[in-house]
Amino acid sequence: MPNPVPCAIVIFGASGDLAQLKLIPAIYELCRERLVSDRFVLVGYARSTEKKDGTPLNDEQYRKDCYDAIKKHARRQPIDESVWKRMAPNIYYIAGSYDSADDHARLAKRLKELDKAHDTGGNRMFYISTPPEVFEGIICRLGERLQSHTPDNGTGFQRIIIEKPFGRDLKSAQDLNATLHRYFDEKQVFRIDHYLGKETVQNLMVMRFANSIFEPIWNYKYIDHVQITVSETVSADDRAGYYDKSGATRDMIQNHMFQLMALVSMEPPAALDATSIRDEKVKVYKSIRPMLPNLVESHAIRGQYGAGEYKDKSGMTPTPGYLKARGVVPNSKTETFAAIKLFIDNWRWSGMPFYLRTGKCLPEKLSEIVVRFRAPPLTLFHKQCDDVYPNDLVIRVQPEEGISWRLNGKVPGGSMAIKSVALDFLYKTAFKVEPPEAYERLLYDALLGDQTLFIRGDEAEAAWQVIDPIEETWAKSNKPPQQYAPNTWGPKAAMDLIELDGRRWLHSGADEEPIIACSL
Ligand code: BG6
Repeated sequence: MPNPVPCAIVIFGASGDLAQLKLIPAIYELCRERLVSDRFVLVGYARSTEKKDGTPLNDEQYRKDCYDAIKKHARRQPIDESVWKRMAPNIYYIAGSYDSADDHARLAKRLKELDKAHDTGGNRMFYISTPPEVFEGIICRLGERLQSHTPDNGTGFQRIIIEKPFGRDLKSAQDLNATLHRYFDEKQVFRIDHYLGKETVQNLMVMRFANSIFEPIWNYKYIDHVQITVSETVSADDRAGYYDKSGATRDMIQNHMFQLMALVSMEPPAALDATSIRDEKVKVYKSIRPMLPNLVESHAIRGQYGAGEYKDKSGMTPTPGYLKARGVVPNSKTETFAAIKLFIDNWRWSGMPFYLRTGKCLPEKLSEIVVRFRAPPLTLFHKQCDDVYPNDLVIRVQPEEGISWRLNGKVPGGSMAIKSVALDFLYKTAFKVEPPEAYERLLYDALLGDQTLFIRGDEAEAAWQVIDPIEETWAKSNKPPQQYAPNTWGPKAAMDLIELDGRRWLHSGADEEPIIACSL
């Protein structure tokens, strides 16, 4: 693996959840693998000058906070203290306002000093991990400095990583892109979708394009439909501040789930470079049939969990229901569950549906793609069997990462009994290593300047173009989202969405698909 060049990483939103839960532990893991240069600096930047208990926030305290975050959240436990000792002296903290030119000047001055002290070569990676309201201020202040104070930055690279949400509709995404492009070249911009950092998601391309068996059957002639489920057991009760302005469709479908759908459905890229791959994904979004307002009610279902109990880390936990959670506006129509049916109007997928569903307070934490092949003609077996199940290719993004082929096999014995059996490839057992966390891979790629696993500006816009008509119709509708009980698979309409087409979700409740498809 190439060694990344020296660099100063500045995290805006340094004391936020993402930095503590994911970014700092990921940087530690990279240091552990020596995938970050020893000549690196990590600067935490946030508004707070002190912690909630009044302790002043300075370099020393921030180092302590980083240590705690690593101890709690690093992937491999116990942590390697010698790695921490190597890392700790390179960590700094600066308190400042996100859009103050003076505070950014202070940051620039400090970075210049740190360049000298740690020999970082003037390379900068600015990671914007703040609430979206302050994105623009940070981008503009950074951009203004870079344009008018080039000597501050020496000759190093200047990259900007930007967290989701990238806009809340097409217009706001276009505005954000315009702001970025006023100061930065697209080559400097790394829009994050952490799903692209997941090992199984990257494996989708390997599976499709490094194996010749799939391509001939990878189309509407052999595949009946594709269903993608990203279900979560947790509630949104504690995140209403962000979530109530977003909802399941904006939070999960426009980004993570569309990425999964694009990788499953795109044409083979001309090469494995960022441009070729991202070009193909954009073509997918542009081929999605626009959802007409009169179809939204039947093709896009929104739900909201009611009162009850959901599964949390600590066990079954009560919720008063989304509408009663703190910070949720009265009568909020924000959906905590969404299921949609889409068509990709191109030669490969003509007329074949893609079903996507996601939600909070569902019975399982699961991210999975099911490619369901067409059923065989039943003429040979219909006398002996009620049903022969169609073949499923189940791609498990998480947990239990892997791929499972469901085939029908004859049960040994004198009678003709058919059973659905699975050929499984499980990452854990096949490679005997635990895959790295998504953020490790993404930070490493950004340090190398590889944009393949990041979203291009036009890609984000094309994805919003698909979502906008749905959101606009929902916004105009008087109908509230359908209620569903926590710890169930969403509202009934989400079942109807697929069942009225004569199909079913692989996970849909008590009546799970039997493993024994048929027996005499
Ligand atoms: C985030 C969403 O992008 O992804 C969260 O904002 C969601 O609402 C999370 O919980 C899910 O990520 P993962 O990796 O746990 O599937």
